[in-house]
Amino acid sequence: MNTQTLFSSFTYKSLSLKNRIVMPAMTRRHSPDGLPTQDVAEYYARRAEDLGLIISEGTVIERPASKNSKDIPDFYGCALDGWRNVINLVHDKSGIMGPQLWHVGDVKSDATGWLPPSPFEGPGSMSTGDIQVTIAKFAEAALNAKKLGFDFLEIHGAHGYLIDQFFWDHTNQRKDEYGGKTIGERTRFAVDVVKAIRKSVGPDFVISMRLSQWKIQDYEAKLASTPKEMESWLLPLLDAGVDIFHCSQRRYWEAEFGQSDLNFAGWAKKITGQPTITVGSVGLSGEFLQALYHKEGSGTTDFDELMRRFERGDFDLVAVGRAILQDAMWVKKLKEERISEFQDFSKDSLGVYY
Ligand SMILES: Cc1cc2nc3c(=O)[nH]c(=O)nc-3n(C[C@H](O)[C@H](O)[C@H](O)COP(=O)(O)O)c2cc1C
Repeated sequence: MNTQTLFSSFTYKSLSLKNRIVMPAMTRRHSPDGLPTQDVAEYYARRAEDLGLIISEGTVIERPASKNSKDIPDFYGCALDGWRNVINLVHDKSGIMGPQLWHVGDVKSDATGWLPPSPFEGPGSMSTGDIQVTIAKFAEAALNAKKLGFDFLEIHGAHGYLIDQFFWDHTNQRKDEYGGKTIGERTRFAVDVVKAIRKSVGPDFVISMRLSQWKIQDYEAKLASTPKEMESWLLPLLDAGVDIFHCSQRRYWEAEFGQSDLNFAGWAKKITGQPTITVGSVGLSGEFLQALYHKEGSGTTDFDELMRRFERGDFDLVAVGRAILQDAMWVKKLKEERISEFQDFSKDSLGVYY
């Protein structure tokens, strides 16, 4: 295994990364009442020196029910001071970072039973007025990200949360212009969000969009069953202003469609011609839902398959979640080929780092 090409630089628009390794969004619930503390800033700063790119944990836009747990960080109001501290500390360590802008939609509260001040909202319950305000709040959060000095932003359009609920026919049965029989039609809400964000941040600020076929509600769900359907999902998002497609899979090595071994990031790059990020069990043999909910340990895998795809040009960047959550030194160890020092991930680690 030789992973040294992952340590080559990457440039796109205003982004200039020292290597190809990305820390993806990982919710921690460590921001009391939504306010990121010094601890949050230090958590990211500890990882900033070695990583190519850091994406914050999901942080919510200003809607009364945009989060489902009390200590998920806000991205509005007083929380912005905390985020300014985060990006300043990360920049002090020469890190590059963007927030992941999130709205949980109709995904109800966690085990604590905490409830937001108004009912959860999703495609089934939102009026056109609610939709327009939500779009405007995404754009406002995006502008704040730019003003605070973040290097880019990511829109959370994956995993069964609000934007994905609009994509998915199980959760989007609207009869108006935000619904429709085809994935192309149901992409309308996301397109409007991206357009509004693009308008507020201008042409040069990099916008990543996280997408997935799978959902926390259904691991086997498929928004696009054919490359044609994937085109009608991704191309409108590209036209609206997405720069980078962050393609979430549970296992990155799984082919998206029968006729080739390309994974989701590979197809997204082929279809859009844009940079893509792959993610899902890189460096670990067990996928994260098993690790989180079923407490299965995850051994370390070899990197040959990853490097075969990376060197073929299927994707530009590689996101590594749990391994970096577990071990802030993971990237450094990979670079120095200290693979024997990699630690297995177990759910118990979340008690410390979560
Ligand atoms: C504790 C935890 C929290 C997560 N929170 C988010 C999140 O806020 N937003 C998101 O897009 N993905 C989230 N994910 C998914 C990760 O970004 C990543 O896609 C997943 O862990 C697979 O990568 P891995 O196999 O390298 O861990 C989370 C994963 C974990 C383990």
